Amino acid sequence: MSTEWDLQICCMGAGYVGGPTMAVIAKMCPKIRVCVIDLNQAQVDAWNSPTFDLPIYEPGLPEVVKESRGRNLFFSTSINEEIARADIIFISVNTPTKTQGIGAGRAANIKNCELCARTIAEVSTTNKIIVEKSTVPVRTATAIRRVLQCNDKGLQFDVLSNPEFLAEGTAVKDLLKPDRVLIGGSQSPEGLAAAEKLVKVYANWIPREQILTTNLWSSECAKLVANAFLAQRVSSINSISALCEATGADVCEISRAVGMDARIGSRFLQSSVGFGGSCFQKDILNLVYLCETYGLDECAQYWNQVILMNNYQKKRFSEKMVSKMFNTVTGKKVAILGYAFKKDTGDVRETPSMFVARDLFEEGAKIHVYDPQVKREDMWQEMEYTCNMSPAKTPGLDEAIVTAPDAYSACSGAHALATLTEWDEFKTLDFEKIYKSMAKPAFIFDGRNILDHDKLRKIGFEVHVIGKPDPAAFTDL
Ligand code: UDX
Ligand code: UDX
Repeated sequence: MSTEWDLQICCMGAGYVGGPTMAVIAKMCPKIRVCVIDLNQAQVDAWNSPTFDLPIYEPGLPEVVKESRGRNLFFSTSINEEIARADIIFISVNTPTKTQGIGAGRAANIKNCELCARTIAEVSTTNKIIVEKSTVPVRTATAIRRVLQCNDKGLQFDVLSNPEFLAEGTAVKDLLKPDRVLIGGSQSPEGLAAAEKLVKVYANWIPREQILTTNLWSSECAKLVANAFLAQRVSSINSISALCEATGADVCEISRAVGMDARIGSRFLQSSVGFGGSCFQKDILNLVYLCETYGLDECAQYWNQVILMNNYQKKRFSEKMVSKMFNTVTGKKVAILGYAFKKDTGDVRETPSMFVARDLFEEGAKIHVYDPQVKREDMWQEMEYTCNMSPAKTPGLDEAIVTAPDAYSACSGAHALATLTEWDEFKTLDFEKIYKSMAKPAFIFDGRNILDHDKLRKIGFEVHVIGKPDPAAFTDL
């Protein structure tokens, strides 16, 4: 019965974005009924798991789901039914980079969003507000609006853009206390009224002054720009890490000195083996493709350089490993600590660890991977999707890349270990014990700048760190 609820929300896509976002809306708005729908039955079953064994690992998320699930939060595959009863429908399906056809390798495929719009047009019997949550190329709302308007039932569909700025690993915190919420809509009276309705949902827990309303195109574009700027900071500092290694400067000292300038700010200046994740590369490629489409080649090249620098950083890291280990890793055991694209998530999309593992595999190394949250099948799935390599089609892969149950067994007998994800537990490992179990000389390659390098050198390790001078090479530090 719709009367018992102030509002009914449905979200298409129960992934990394749809799931946590709706769980938090349900928690903060007990009078709104929220249902997340997905085509994938297994995904929905996992969200409904009696033991809260959710499909994604995200700190604090099980508690939030526990609080609302069955009360005003539901997960379902009854797509038509849930769309029909909803007032507001979020589209939160994935929009991957196209792998073939026009714009292959750069353009985002909005096929899933269009399919959602078609389903909505087909099954709706009342007016709806449609909210683009997925990150989409600028002007996607036009396509969605046109598909919806083709319905012959005389229904009104208002399309809003409400991009998600949560980062994985901190999703619950980001959703509860966002820096801002952005809502874009048409500037017509109907569009403004629809935007106001969504503003009221967020105003249940977010101060009004942090809820920005803009036109549709600004909102769609702002999401791409926010990710491009963040990724650009990582690529900028990573470019400096290479200069540091060549000159004896220390990238951590530079980050601190530069970041303390209030105009620059300190966040997102941590040098690393490269950025990964489902968004940065995809969204920049999307921006590059958009610029090209509008004939803005210089703008396209400018942003493309952020990606090229990231590719360079990943390659530079694996090449350094090989060169320091006497130019050969063939037949050597190498431990990779951390496979997720950052800590506090099990997500491996575009993870830099995968590219390092691939390069080492091609050099003939035996790779032992330990990550507290990553499952072996997820590793293979992403490797197949992104590198076109899999145990079935790549001879020797299954034997060469194995997963270890803990860091100690990954490192036992290894010639080198590489920290590629900044998991907190790696900082407190017993490195004396690890050193004793490794082949000598024992190498450490710290791709995240998280270990105590002086201490490790005292134990006897040969340590190489992104953006830090090698003390043996620089006697004038
Ligand atoms: C999101 C956004 O939607 C994407 O645009 C943004 O750039 C990154 O974050 P994400 O939540 O990470 O994507 O995607 P994913 O975890 O793959 O979840 C998407 C879900 O949608 C999947 O569970 C999939 O089964 C579902 N889906 C996909 C549908 O229900 N219908 C479809 O037509 C397509
Ligand atoms: C990003 C955006 O931050 C978020 O606002 C958007 O909604 C989705 O995309 P996410 O991909 O989850 O979030 O992770 P983020 O924390 O941004 O990290 C991206 C990558 O950059 C990671 O691989 C991370 O390790 C790397 N990174 C980040 C660095 O190498 N150095 C830094 O200083 C910060």
